[in-house]
Amino acid sequence: MQPPKSQVKATLLKNARIKADYFCAELEMASIPQNALPGQFVHVQIPDLSHRVLRRPFSIFNVEQNKLSLLYKVVGEGTRQLSTIAPGKELDIVGPLGRPFSPLPDKSIIVAGGYGCAATYLLAKNAPIKPLVLIGGRTSEDILLKEEYEALGCEVRISTDDGSMGLKGRVTQLLQQAINGQSWLAACGPIPMLKALAELMSSLNLKGELSLDKAMCCGVGACFACVTKVKDATSPDGWRYARVCAEGPVFNAEELIFV
Ligand SMILES: Cc1cc2nc3c(=O)[nH]c(=O)nc-3n(C[C@H](O)[C@H](O)[C@H](O)COP(=O)(O)OP(=O)(O)OC[C@H]3O[C@@H](n4cnc5c(N)ncnc54)[C@H](O)[C@@H]3O)c2cc1C
Ligand code: FES
Repeated sequence: MQPPKSQVKATLLKNARIKADYFCAELEMASIPQNALPGQFVHVQIPDLSHRVLRRPFSIFNVEQNKLSLLYKVVGEGTRQLSTIAPGKELDIVGPLGRPFSPLPDKSIIVAGGYGCAATYLLAKNAPIKPLVLIGGRTSEDILLKEEYEALGCEVRISTDDGSMGLKGRVTQLLQQAINGQSWLAACGPIPMLKALAELMSSLNLKGELSLDKAMCCGVGACFACVTKVKDATSPDGWRYARVCAEGPVFNAEELIFV
C-alpha cells in the first residue's frame, strides 16, 4: 500500500549548483520524508512563477528524518526560477506521489541516465545487498552521484556518449558488458534510454522496473496529461493508456509499450 500524501510548507535549507546545470536542494518539512518510498516524487509549487501555475515533479532523491533532497537540472523557466531561490524561503510541496520501486532482490543492477540517478538513490540506499550501478550521460558533466553511490557500498560503472568519462558509448553497451547473473534491473532516465533498455532486457530475459519521466500537469491522476501506453490483456486492442503520475512513474518493464 502506498503511503498517504500530504501538502506541506517546506523550508529550503540549501540550494546549490553541483555541476553544470545540475542543482541540489534540501528542504525541511513536517511530513513527506518519513513516508517516502524509493522512486516516488514530490510536486513542487515554484514561488514567484506567477503566470505559470502548474507544479513541477521531482524525484525524491534522499530523505533524512524531516529533510528531503531533490537533484534537478535547469531545463526551462520553472527549474531556472527554482535555482535562484535562496535558503530560508518556503515552498508548497505535495507528496509523496506515485508508485515506488519494488525492493531490490540480491543480484540487481541499477541503470540511471542523467538526473535519473536521483530516482534510484534511495533504492540502493535501502538495499541490504548493494546493486551494481551503471550511470550514463552525454558527457562527464551529466554523470552525477558517482561518489554518493560508492559511499553506499555500490560498485559504479560509467558510460558517456563522447567518451569524456568511462566507456565511450551508450549505457546499454555498459549493461551488455556488466551483466553477470543478475536477475533484476531498476532504471530511470530519458525515454529513449528506457526504450533501448526494455528491448535489451527482453533479449537478455532480465526482469525489472523502469521509472518514466513524462511531463505532468495535475500529478494526481485527474487530467490524463501524462499518459503512456501499457499492455492490457482485458482491453480489445491489448493495450490501454496508463497515467504515469498515479499508476507510475515506476512500471514493470514488460508492461510498457514504447512508440
Ligand atoms: C516523476 C518525475 C520525476 C522527475 N524527477 C526529476 C528530477 O529528479 N530532477 C529533474 O531535474 N527533473 C525531474 N523531472 C523532470 C522535471 O519535472 C522537469 O524537468 C521540469 O518540470 C521542467 O520544468 P521547467 O519549468 O523548468 O521546464 P518547462 O519550461 O516546463 O519545459 C522546458 C523543457 O523541458 C521539457 N520538459 C518538461 N517537463 C519534462 C519532463 N518531465 N521530462 C522531460 N522533459 C520535460 C519541456 O518539454 C521543454 O522542452 C521529473 C519528472 C517526472 C515526471
Ligand atoms: S498529470 Fe494529470 S493525470 Fe497525470
